[in-house]
Amino acid sequence: MLDPNFVLDDDSRDRLIARFGAGVDAWCAVLPEMVERYCLRWHLELDKAVTGNGSRVFIGRQHGNHGVVLKLTPDPAIANEEAMALRAWTATPHVVDLLDADLETGALLLEKIEPGTKASDQPELPPASEAAELLAGLRQAAGYDGGQLPTLAQGVESMFSRIGGLLSNPRVSPLVTPQILADGHRKARELASGGPTGLLHGDLHLSNILRAGRTRGLVAIDPRPGIGDLTFDAVDWTLDRAASIDEVHERIDQLCQLVPDMDRDRLWRWCQATAAALAILRLTRRPPDDTTQLLLKLAALSLRLWFRRSTTLLSDETMHRENALLAPTAPRPWKTTARCRVARRIAAKTRSIPSSDRAQ
Ligand SMILES: Nc1ncnc2c1ncn2[C@@H]1O[C@H](COP(=O)(O)OP(=O)(O)O)[C@@H](O)[C@H]1O
Ligand SMILES: [Mg+2]
Repeated sequence: MLDPNFVLDDDSRDRLIARFGAGVDAWCAVLPEMVERYCLRWHLELDKAVTGNGSRVFIGRQHGNHGVVLKLTPDPAIANEEAMALRAWTATPHVVDLLDADLETGALLLEKIEPGTKASDQPELPPASEAAELLAGLRQAAGYDGGQLPTLAQGVESMFSRIGGLLSNPRVSPLVTPQILADGHRKARELASGGPTGLLHGDLHLSNILRAGRTRGLVAIDPRPGIGDLTFDAVDWTLDRAASIDEVHERIDQLCQLVPDMDRDRLWRWCQATAAALAILRLTRRPPDDTTQLLLKLAALSLRLWFRRSTTLLSDETMHRENALLAPTAPRPWKTTARCRVARRIAAKTRSIPSSDRAQ
């Protein structure tokens, strides 16, 4: 009999409730029994349990010696989509192999990646050559049913709506204006409606990329797949721990030379479109740091251009003219209009951008 505390400790249970709501309690209650059943069915011995963002993961062995991972998700639809994508990527060594699945309950049996160090835990960003191999591997998808997977356009809507809900978080609100996020949302919506379409990983941050030894290189796990512009999957590597806008441009150049059909302009625009959302997610987890600052700078670049245009328009002469027009009924100087307040707030945030930074 498995120790119920090994199957799910209180902290992990709280994390799952925070992610899926109180309804997940019933699933937590039957989890020990479920795990026991899969151990018998798939001949497993479990050594370690991990709670990720939306699952409980058990690392162990099958038939005593073959390294495997049992992944259980409270929402079977999520497991179903993950399984569909993993099966489509069997031809590439850069995606984890799905060994078996019980999709009614949301149980996946995966190969164990060795040593399996997360790219996010390594001091250096993986080199462009390895990231490019992984991204090129993801482009070799076959035999998936696109009709059953969400589109990137749908994914963009749910992502921005979820992240919009975090704007009032006390760690976020002093640093991120709703306008910056709305501008990113508009850009992402526009990008999601075009581009080279295919099967996307959809959640390729560096905690979902594991190292698998010298010959195999990097391996992607945990897809939240969708159908859409393949450029989207390159954003996380391009922005991870970048120190300057110039470095972002250098990474884009490197990747686009190595991944066939990767579009430089679209990747840059995706980076700008998602920067504010990524900054918000980061701020909810840790205090502001250089990465957050870079992301906010990147998100504000095009708004800075907009601000420059509006200040040119709002020269003293224009302001007097506008004020004169408004004056007959009530003196409402431009300074007090919402547009000016927004522009002033954005200006305060973007004042530190060196003029050498490229804004496209
Ligand atoms: N196939 C695997 N091989 C080795 N470790 C894995 C494997 N799958 C998951 N893990 C470990 O479990 C953690 C959570 O798994 P993941 O699939 O990312 O779940 P979540 O959806 O909850 O984020 C990973 O960060 C990794 O440390
Ligand atoms: Mg994960």
